[in-house]
Amino acid sequence: MKEKIKRKDTKQKILLNIINSSIDSQEIERKKIASFLHDNINSLLSSAGLHLNTFTVQHEIKSEEIHKAKTILSQAHELLRDMSHDLVPSLLVRFGLIYALEDLCEKNSNSAIVFKFSSSIPTNKRYTEKFEMKLYFIVTELFNNIIKHSDAKESNLSLIEKNNLLILRIDDDGIGFKTQKPKDLEGFGLNRIRARIKKYKGTISITSKENEGTQIKIQIPLPH
Ligand SMILES: Nc1ncnc2c1ncn2[C@@H]1O[C@H](COP(=O)(O)OP(=O)(O)OP(=O)(O)O)[C@@H](O)[C@H]1O
Ligand SMILES: [Mg+2]
Repeated sequence: MKEKIKRKDTKQKILLNIINSSIDSQEIERKKIASFLHDNINSLLSSAGLHLNTFTVQHEIKSEEIHKAKTILSQAHELLRDMSHDLVPSLLVRFGLIYALEDLCEKNSNSAIVFKFSSSIPTNKRYTEKFEMKLYFIVTELFNNIIKHSDAKESNLSLIEKNNLLILRIDDDGIGFKTQKPKDLEGFGLNRIRARIKKYKGTISITSKENEGTQIKIQIPLPH
């Protein structure tokens, strides 16, 4: 009898693990799609709209077709915006970056690793939507690396605002890695993060030593 209950328990645990991991990978896919839509399609639509506007100003043309094309573009823009919102974690959109990151730490903590969160910024602080989204995806990408590669027991995320900069520190007590290897050997993740931070005129420094964990410091100018 006892043996039977035990087996049922294990079976349920396995099932829960399968469900949880499929939700996790769904979330990762959603984030990828959302950030792709946001970063690429959005700017293509904006650029098409801009060209249309310039054309009509330069040629002083009043055309029904161009007017319709502009309306269609702005509808596509709105649809895309709605869709990105659906894809991005609703906590981020509703309660902002600080709240969503605190929640992310809690959600990613388990018996193997704990993500500790500290922030001198009020939880209800809001930045621009674009800024919040970018930073959220950067942190999720770095957390994924810690979970996937570091074998750490503890990770700390801290946030402060100083001299018009948002300063994020993420460290872990895991196995570390060689940071001096050429950047083109880094995976998609770190390269994408570097590109995003550069676009925002920020800086990232990664200090990591084998068996001594990894410390990452990101400084990004606050949006106006
Ligand atoms: N916190 C960490 N601890 C230990 N090793 C790390 C850590 N972060 C990154 N690495 C190492 O740096 C490499 C590059 O990371 P990067 O995120 O660029 O690529 P990836 O995680 O391998 O692939 P992807 O992010 O595209 O799924 C990793 O493969 C891993 O070896
Ligand atoms: Mg990665």
